[in-house]
Amino acid sequence: MRPLTSDDLPHADALFNAAYGRRGGLGEAGRRYLAWQPDGWLLAELSGQPVGMVYAVRYDRFAYVGVMAVPPSAQRRGVGRALMTRLLTDLEAHAVGTVRLDATPEGAALYRHFGFVEEGTKTLYRRAEAVRGELVGMRPLRRGDLLALTAFDAPKFGAARDHVLRTLCEAYPERAFVSRRAGGVSGYVVASPRSIGPWVADDSRTAEQLLLCALALPFETEPSVIAPDANTAAGTLLARYGFRVVRRTVHMRRGSETPIDYAKLYAQVSFAVG
Ligand SMILES: CC(C)(COP(=O)(O)OP(=O)(O)OC[C@H]1O[C@@H](n2cnc3c(N)ncnc32)[C@H](O)[C@@H]1OP(=O)(O)O)[C@@H](O)C(=O)NCCC(=O)NCCS
Repeated sequence: MRPLTSDDLPHADALFNAAYGRRGGLGEAGRRYLAWQPDGWLLAELSGQPVGMVYAVRYDRFAYVGVMAVPPSAQRRGVGRALMTRLLTDLEAHAVGTVRLDATPEGAALYRHFGFVEEGTKTLYRRAEAVRGELVGMRPLRRGDLLALTAFDAPKFGAARDHVLRTLCEAYPERAFVSRRAGGVSGYVVASPRSIGPWVADDSRTAEQLLLCALALPFETEPSVIAPDANTAAGTLLARYGFRVVRRTVHMRRGSETPIDYAKLYAQVSFAVG
């Protein structure tokens, strides 16, 4: 087992495709994950061949685990267990007390061995009707907004994630919208060409206006959204604007509870980084 580096990203794409039955790999997201936590990604090899990987980004209050992947040809031989053992040892060495992740049913069975418990559920939605939004009362994010935006985000997400938000806002300057009220931020959304999130707002009316802005943008495919089920307003809004449920996943935690303001957290970035 060794750290995965940028040279290994083609292996990461192949492992991801094989384990999750996908074709496009992680693409740009893989490069971002590595940039956000360069020492957070493990690659397992057997006779020089990649047989598995797992990743964790360390925020200040908890770590988020993602892209756990063992291709079908190597499954049920202890690779996943070995990867998780090493990852958790590494996280403990960094004094990480709380670890979170979103689990597939196979993954959940593995994580229970390591003391992960269910903390909630998340739903993956995809737009099924081409409902177009409009740019209502929000303006695209400006560079000077980033400080206020990250300060607004941290108590809702439950950890500071300045580096994540900065990268996303710089990658999609025309696709990030901020809502301001009485001098402060009251919500924001970032939409990539394929998905919407993070999407965070003080109230459902602001969240709706942000969603409308996002839906006014062009997308490469019908956009997906990963919303915590604890935020019931997110599901209501998504249904209203033509989104359908793709699947539900279990959200798990290991270690002590840390606060997350799910009432204001409408969508996360991805399954890998929360
Ligand atoms: C989930 C996954 C990583 C497990 O990897 P693995 O190398 O096969 O896991 P291990 O052989 O180390 O299994 C360890 C334990 O996890 C549990 N487990 C693993 N795969 C399981 C499955 N398909 N169904 C039920 N339990 C499973 C079992 O308890 C297993 O112990 P056992 O084999 O002694 O019964 C792998 O199946 C995978 O990549 N699946 C597709 C992608 C995915 O779902 N990733 C997880 C995202 S959260």
